[in-house]
Amino acid sequence: LHADVHVLMTENATNFINPITFETLTGNKCLVDTFDRNFQYSVEHVSLAKKADVVMLAPASANVIGKIAHGIADDMLSTTVMATRAPVLVAPAMNTGMWENAAVQQNIKTLRARGVEIVAPVSGHLACGDNGAGKLEDVAVIAERACELLFAKKDMEGLRVMVTAGPSREALDPVRYISNRSSGKMGYAIAQAAQKRGAEVTLLSGPVAIEAPQGVKLVPFTTTQELLDRASELAREQDLLIQAAAPADYRAKEVAPQKIKKQGGEPMTFTLVENPDVAATLGKAKRSGQVFVGFAAETNDVLAHARDKLARKNLDMIVANDVTRPGAGFDVDTNIVTLITKDGQEALPMMSKAEVAQRILDRALALRRE
Ligand code: CTP
Repeated sequence: LHADVHVLMTENATNFINPITFETLTGNKCLVDTFDRNFQYSVEHVSLAKKADVVMLAPASANVIGKIAHGIADDMLSTTVMATRAPVLVAPAMNTGMWENAAVQQNIKTLRARGVEIVAPVSGHLACGDNGAGKLEDVAVIAERACELLFAKKDMEGLRVMVTAGPSREALDPVRYISNRSSGKMGYAIAQAAQKRGAEVTLLSGPVAIEAPQGVKLVPFTTTQELLDRASELAREQDLLIQAAAPADYRAKEVAPQKIKKQGGEPMTFTLVENPDVAATLGKAKRSGQVFVGFAAETNDVLAHARDKLARKNLDMIVANDVTRPGAGFDVDTNIVTLITKDGQEALPMMSKAEVAQRILDRALALRRE
């Protein structure tokens, strides 16, 4: 794969890096944001904007983010971003205080809502000596996201996809609940990937700390029973159902109406009753042509347990992972999964949840065509 890269620098950026470095690496003239009368691009300043298949701002400062969020085009860089019709990717890097500033966060939200791809900064040691959020995401991750924008497949147009994600919460009393460590990241990644591939996506989500992807219909749930109720209403009209949620298997037999008090040193006992199995219930009503995918997060005998769930819940595919392995499971951005179908299995290496999402969709589409 060869990309023709054109680098455009603000004048401030040249204090850190000499444009010659970029010219050597790219073989193209590096545009520096000064008023250069001799240079063709300053006459036809939208030419680069037209030429680009993707425009990346990396690292993007708080200042440039503010400018593009508010439609200010007062230099070569902001003018180019304003003029382009190509997808725009912004990878911010700045001091933690700046990144967390309400104005910056509002600007990021504005850009996201307009469809700008944001590669959020990570936590780490920053140039200013601080430790915290604001460090530029790994360049390999940024490049991967740019590739996703460039080669976005539109092979799910006209398909209706429902994804379940996140944990359920089962109340014990007005202030306490039973839940689990599901972060929702895997399900959200699938919802986002399907939406980008052109599907009409409904995301049934338990309480999570992450933002819903743009362009999906978000339906919140709290308890397993609520998930079942919502999902049952919506399942019939779906082509694909992907169940990445972690609904609690049990709930308190009785929810205490008042806050439960300490028992004066005595052990406390709760009686739990089993919740309905959402996947198994929906599986019973599956129409022909529908493809249902489930997950199996296991700690032992992963494949055997997963195969059993595939059959028991009338699923077409199960995504199995061993949550005890580093780089897999809860609250991490990577996963190591095996895709199990009735007549085969494919073990995937460790990859980002975004990449796992694409592979799951590829397989599910193949099953639909069978
Ligand atoms: N699932 C569900 N309803 C439940 C529990 C799980 O629909 N009450 C779904 C999950 O969304 C997932 C799949 O079933 O797609 C497997 O979840 P898991 O918790 O591994 O399965 P269980 O049937 O609860 O099996 P176990 O006895 O291992 O807890």
